[in-house]
Amino acid sequence: MKNSLLLKFDSVSKSYPVYSSILRRVMSRKLVLEKITFELEEGKVLGVLGASGSGKTTIAKLITKIEEEYSGRIILNNINIKNMTHKELAKNVSMVFQNPYSSLNPKHKIRFVLEERINQYAKLYNNKIDNYEIKEHILELLNYMKLPAEILSCYPHQLSGGQKQRIAILCAIILKPKLLILDEPLSSLDISLQAQILNYLIDIKQKYNLTYIFITHDQDLAEYFCDNIIKINKGVICENN
Ligand SMILES: Nc1ncnc2c1ncn2[C@@H]1O[C@H](COP(=O)(O)OP(=O)(O)O)[C@@H](O)[C@H]1O
Ligand SMILES: [Mg+2]
Repeated sequence: MKNSLLLKFDSVSKSYPVYSSILRRVMSRKLVLEKITFELEEGKVLGVLGASGSGKTTIAKLITKIEEEYSGRIILNNINIKNMTHKELAKNVSMVFQNPYSSLNPKHKIRFVLEERINQYAKLYNNKIDNYEIKEHILELLNYMKLPAEILSCYPHQLSGGQKQRIAILCAIILKPKLLILDEPLSSLDISLQAQILNYLIDIKQKYNLTYIFITHDQDLAEYFCDNIIKINKGVICENN
């Protein structure tokens, strides 16, 4: 049985303005994505493979509406994302950023970070969640990621790189997205940790019925983990298989 289509890029091009250094006037535009077209079925892992600067993160920023100016169409669940509010989009798409160090506020304990995220989820769906439910939910998630409960009273700087990245992944899946975008989630970790986190990602994909976009510059990793790969070079898809 063919899975249903979750995401479609239809000839998407994106350019950034180039400013003159003196007058801060737009001098020209730099094309960073050119006519990007691909499809992603529900439940699959799509690899976005390319060297640094090829436009991978820009693709993620377009899907999450961090960048809203582009040409072409991005269709999510049969709806053009231009016609979706940020709130609707947040119910469907969540992202783990490249750097786990910058994605956690150093001033907040991990307990606070996770509680905030659960409250954000409740707000999205206008739900009321009581404190007991929040506690239970957090413990379940920690358990799933093989993180000890003591971690809740730690600050981000007290965590290892792998622990921080797992918390960042938890923050992303608390919103129960359909699509999880992982922007080079392993590149700041050493090899043994990479394998471990990859296994967690495989587990939680199963458990939460997720679809992944896995951004990487590592061909072997992409081939191991992804069902389909688009390879981009300077903003152009050069392979799609
Ligand atoms: N806000 C921006 N303004 C101008 N140029 C940008 C901006 N963000 C990214 N770029 C440029 O767009 C190109 C693609 O960047 P990016 O999508 O981050 O690549 P990747 O994630 O593959 O390393 C790069 O040349 C980068 O310098
Ligand atoms: Mg990037």
